[in-house]
Amino acid sequence: MKKAIFYQIPIITILCIIFSPHFISAQEQTEKINVCVDCHQNLEDTLKDAVTNWQESVHKKAGVFCNDCHGGDSNDSDNAMDEKAGFIGIPKPKDIPKICSRCHSDVTIMRKYNLKTDQFNLYKTSIHGIRLFEKGDESVATCASCHGNHNVLSKNDPRSPIYRFNIPLTCGKCHSNKDMMKSYNIPTDQYELYSKSHHGKMLLENKNLRVPTCVDCHGTHGAVPPGVTDIVEVCSNCHSVISEYFKKSPHHLIKKEGMPRCINCHGNHEIQRPTLEKFTGKGVIDCGGCHYPESPAFKTGVDIKASLTEAEALLKAGNDDIAFIKKHGGNSFAIGHLEDDMDNARTKLLEAYSVSHALSIDEIKRRTSEVVSISKNVSETIKGMIKDIKLRKVGIIFTWVVIGVIIILLRQKAKNWKRVIK
Ligand code: HEC
Ligand code: HEC
Ligand code: HEC
Ligand code: HEC
Ligand code: HEC
Ligand code: HEC
Ligand code: HEC
Ligand code: HEC
Ligand code: HEC
Repeated sequence: MKKAIFYQIPIITILCIIFSPHFISAQEQTEKINVCVDCHQNLEDTLKDAVTNWQESVHKKAGVFCNDCHGGDSNDSDNAMDEKAGFIGIPKPKDIPKICSRCHSDVTIMRKYNLKTDQFNLYKTSIHGIRLFEKGDESVATCASCHGNHNVLSKNDPRSPIYRFNIPLTCGKCHSNKDMMKSYNIPTDQYELYSKSHHGKMLLENKNLRVPTCVDCHGTHGAVPPGVTDIVEVCSNCHSVISEYFKKSPHHLIKKEGMPRCINCHGNHEIQRPTLEKFTGKGVIDCGGCHYPESPAFKTGVDIKASLTEAEALLKAGNDDIAFIKKHGGNSFAIGHLEDDMDNARTKLLEAYSVSHALSIDEIKRRTSEVVSISKNVSETIKGMIKDIKLRKVGIIFTWVVIGVIIILLRQKAKNWKRVIK
């Protein structure tokens, strides 16, 4: 018995040491200890901020450490920042894209995270990339200017500079900076114009996810201004129906230099909701900006405007009539039918707006004449209903008058009888 305990004690002791929490955590720590993080978190200012910001990042979670971008030896505190250990210090702008894409262009690393690997290749074709690599221009955007150095976040994180609603400001940080852009001689009003445009207001104020931010028109990593030939394509990514009609217009079919494209009639950063006044206006983005009032082209615009204006007016009258009859007690079953008709007319009018891009008066009239006839029918029907209601009212008043007269006559009779009885 005593002998058994004599053998068991050392075995139990050894097992206890191996499975003790301390032993396990020490093993884990050899993987986790990173002398860069350890030392820098006790320093000050930017040397410490690097750690604080990195700790919030997607990189920290994915196990991307200081030495993955700066080089150096993360196990040797004394020689961590030695050039011999591959330490590069603060990376120069022209080296940043290569550092990031060591991982981000690697399909085997990125597959696991379901991320694309085309950023570096696209970046090389952008104005930013071309100026950086070919001209050594370090003012342009590198990966870190748009994503940050240490607090790199997912595009789905509302705090991220590339979260959809934050993109315009991220680009505007440089593109609205007059000092930075002076030497390039390009405008610095893109953010200002965009934020006041219909697209910009829908994005920034209404949180509409379908309107374009800067990168939907310029490309995310391949940021360039869309050329004249591909502007229609840029807009048609979203406005596909209108683009199809535009492609049937003389502006597209006449092959001459300087023919108008979407932005010649709508602008690019300042796009607003257009009105029919464009057809007769004289501003640079109106028909009158290019065509003389006497020209057949301008007359085409005048005709289109007249057609659409008439349809709009009758549609409005029809809707007003429905509102009126609803208030004055029309038959709700019959009104339901009329409302369906007006919905149909509205759809036709919206179609006519898109069709107007083909500049074919016949095609437009085909739609607007339907709007006109449906709206007129509805208004006529309602006129009939109003007449009925009026007639019914007259009938009711007449009945009450008759009943009143009968009551008066009966009372007279009753008085006469009372007198006879007395
Ligand atoms: C023992 C502390 C210590 C360790 C370990 C350490 N650093 Fe530093 N690091 C510093 C100090 C102090 C400075 C500022 C003075 C200097 O530049 O030498 C600094 C500066 C830096 C800078 C800025 C360099 C510059 O040119 O301004 C970078 C980048 C950096 N460290 C990255 C790293 C990385 C990556 C590691 C790990 C491989 C690391 N550090 C490990 C203490 C440390
Ligand atoms: C994803 C790559 C990446 C990682 C990971 C990274 N850095 Fe950096 N770091 C950069 C870039 C890029 C810059 C410089 C950008 C610039 O300003 O031009 C930078 C700059 C710095 C600077 C200079 C001061 C500053 O903030 O601009 C220090 C110090 C620094 N890093 C330390 C660290 C430490 C410590 C860690 C780990 C906690 C770390 N970095 C992790 C990319 C990285
Ligand atoms: C050592 C490899 C490595 C390096 C170097 C690296 N990254 Fe990453 N990065 C990753 C991994 C892995 C992820 C995926 C993290 C996740 O999705 O959880 C990631 C995620 C990202 C994301 C988030 C993508 C999203 O929307 O989900 C961005 C942005 C990013 N990195 C930018 C950069 C930039 C900019 C640099 C250079 C300054 C850089 N990375 C350097 C490995 C790296
Ligand atoms: C001019 C600004 C800008 C530059 C420069 C830039 N990015 Fe991006 N990046 C963005 C924006 C904006 C998004 C979000 C796109 C979206 O919402 O689809 C993004 C998305 C990403 C993503 C998320 C995955 C994806 O493809 O949607 C990664 C990873 C990434 N960038 C890495 C990089 C790397 C690496 C570089 C440098 C080679 C770089 N970026 C340069 C603005 C930039
Ligand atoms: C770090 C500053 C910086 C940031 C951030 C930045 N850019 Fe740039 N960008 C520049 C500089 C500098 C140029 C060079 C100007 C030139 O060549 O005319 C440029 C050029 C351009 C051009 C070509 C202009 C032309 O016609 O010459 C476009 C388009 C552009 N950037 C779009 C964007 C978009 C979109 C974003 C945001 C996703 C963005 N930029 C973010 C600095 C920046
Ligand atoms: C609806 C599409 C669209 C959106 C959104 C858009 N742009 Fe543009 N941008 C264009 C077009 C088209 C051009 C080229 C105009 C030309 O060639 O005359 C252009 C030109 C530019 C230029 C070249 C200089 C200039 O002003 O002509 C820069 C820089 C630029 N945009 C930056 C931005 C930034 C930053 C944003 C976001 C705040 C943005 N763009 C949003 C379509 C767009
Ligand atoms: C990413 C998709 C997208 C792109 C690219 C885009 N748009 Fe839009 N645009 C929209 C959406 C969505 C609306 C409607 C917003 C709303 O609900 O009012 C809109 C609205 C408009 C309007 C106002 C429409 C109205 O009802 O009065 C005009 C004009 C317009 N866009 C023109 C353009 C032009 C020109 C271009 C190309 C230079 C362009 N858009 C590129 C999505 C886009
Ligand atoms: C020759 C001038 C001209 C050109 C080119 C042009 N538009 Fe228009 N666009 C107009 C006018 C005028 C209106 C307002 C009247 C109307 O709606 O019919 C309008 C209306 C619109 C509307 C709002 C009406 C609706 O149906 O939603 C959008 C969106 C639009 N255009 C987009 C585009 C796109 C995208 C292109 C390029 C494919 C383009 N436009 C090309 C003149 C033009
Ligand atoms: C940016 C200048 C520009 C704008 C804006 C513009 N056009 Fe044109 N348009 C042209 C040019 C150039 C031609 C080709 C004329 C030629 O063949 O010499 C043309 C041709 C036409 C034609 C066919 C040829 C003809 O003379 O009948 C019609 C129709 C037309 N435009 C109508 C319009 C209408 C309607 C608008 C406004 C919605 C408009 N255009 C806005 C430049 C413009």
